[in-house]
Amino acid sequence: MNMSEKNKTNAPKGTKDIFYPEIKKWQYLEDHIRHFFSQFLYREIRTPIFEHSELFQRGIGSETEMVQKEMYTFLDKADRSLTLRPENTASVVRAALENNLFNQMFPLRFFYIGPMFRYEKPQKGRQRQFHQMGIEVFGDDSAGVDAEVIYSAYRFLEILNIKDMKLKVNSVGCRECRPGFLSKLASEAEKHHDQLCPDCQRKVHTNPLRIFDCKKQTCIEISTHFPVMIENLCSGCGEHFDQLKTSLSNLAVTYTVDPRIVRGLDYYVRTAFEITSGQLGAQDAVLGGGRYDDLVKELGGPDVPGTGFAAGLERIILHLDDTPGKEKKIILVAYQNQAIETQAVKLAKTLWEKGLTAYINYNSRNMKKQFKRGDRIDAHFAFILGEDEVQNNTISIKNMESKEQFTIKNEELDQWLKKNL
Ligand code: HAM
Repeated sequence: MNMSEKNKTNAPKGTKDIFYPEIKKWQYLEDHIRHFFSQFLYREIRTPIFEHSELFQRGIGSETEMVQKEMYTFLDKADRSLTLRPENTASVVRAALENNLFNQMFPLRFFYIGPMFRYEKPQKGRQRQFHQMGIEVFGDDSAGVDAEVIYSAYRFLEILNIKDMKLKVNSVGCRECRPGFLSKLASEAEKHHDQLCPDCQRKVHTNPLRIFDCKKQTCIEISTHFPVMIENLCSGCGEHFDQLKTSLSNLAVTYTVDPRIVRGLDYYVRTAFEITSGQLGAQDAVLGGGRYDDLVKELGGPDVPGTGFAAGLERIILHLDDTPGKEKKIILVAYQNQAIETQAVKLAKTLWEKGLTAYINYNSRNMKKQFKRGDRIDAHFAFILGEDEVQNNTISIKNMESKEQFTIKNEELDQWLKKNL
């Protein structure tokens, strides 16, 4: 192809084209998601890729980094403010409310797979358009269902053979116990104001909990001595967290309690968790989630609790082997000259109608070229039609690997296919 470099338009920074053979991993992963989560009665939901910006401002929280710095927000031609979804929990809640699903569906369990958009600095495992799969469960405030959600998250990754996984759980309290804790935390952080990075200095006043998110070594060291939420929970949240730990142990899930898991979105209450993988480098969070009991109400709905998680598919793909799943065997249909092309196309059609994978190189006068193409598509067999074959109602078959070649009668085709494909 002769395209002048100057006139080339590249994909925007932080986005990626996905195609063969990497696409095989995506398809394998998507099949696994659909199959695995249907075991727990999750049903797929597809929501729009853009929503009214207000949904995310209200749902995720206007003080969060995500809303303040990372959203792709634009005005459409009618001056409406729209945002490419940075996550999908708020959208699922909006969709369930708008379609009256809270009254109609049972169980209220959804899973989704799709692209999300965040204006972040791209690096390994971090993109501006990335993909998530996630699950959301509504209508159950028990720690038992949180444990099931966490178990399913862990097991989902374990089946994919994700190595070096760590599950960290925490409780971020609720509307009752969090405000008191936050002022305690803020006054402690204020004492160390000058040692904190400028970002954390700002967080002291806007969202002190988020100081625990900072990756800077000095901030990590200073904040290890700060008060933590799990030691300041109200009795309801304390019991919920104890029950969560018991339920996780009943399911034989190995976890550590990490008070630094505070999550980057404001809707979380009580349970918060993350699964990291030691093989991912700086962006090591494969999956994160937690409980969001106030979100439905905050978005104008009834008092329905919710819990769930989302996983970053790019980060899972980085772990997957090259050729997951079995590929169908490919048949090259080759023909000696142009006069035989029609018979060759009919043979290919017969194969397609049997659900087989066949490739034909049109307008070709040259068998050698057809075989070269056969090698490039990794064909297992070549079905060859020459003048002799057409005249004698036969097909010559070449095993592309062993180079063995033999001839069968047309009426033997079905039997041969059954035996060999
Ligand atoms: P989150 O922690 O913001 O949670 O994202 C979940 C996962 O998405 C992360 O653990 C990470 O694997 C992946 N991810 C996030 N940003 C990027 C990026 N820029 N590039 C690649 N992967 C990324 C949520 O989104 C919540 N909605 C999860 C949830 C569902 N909580 C309850 N229900």
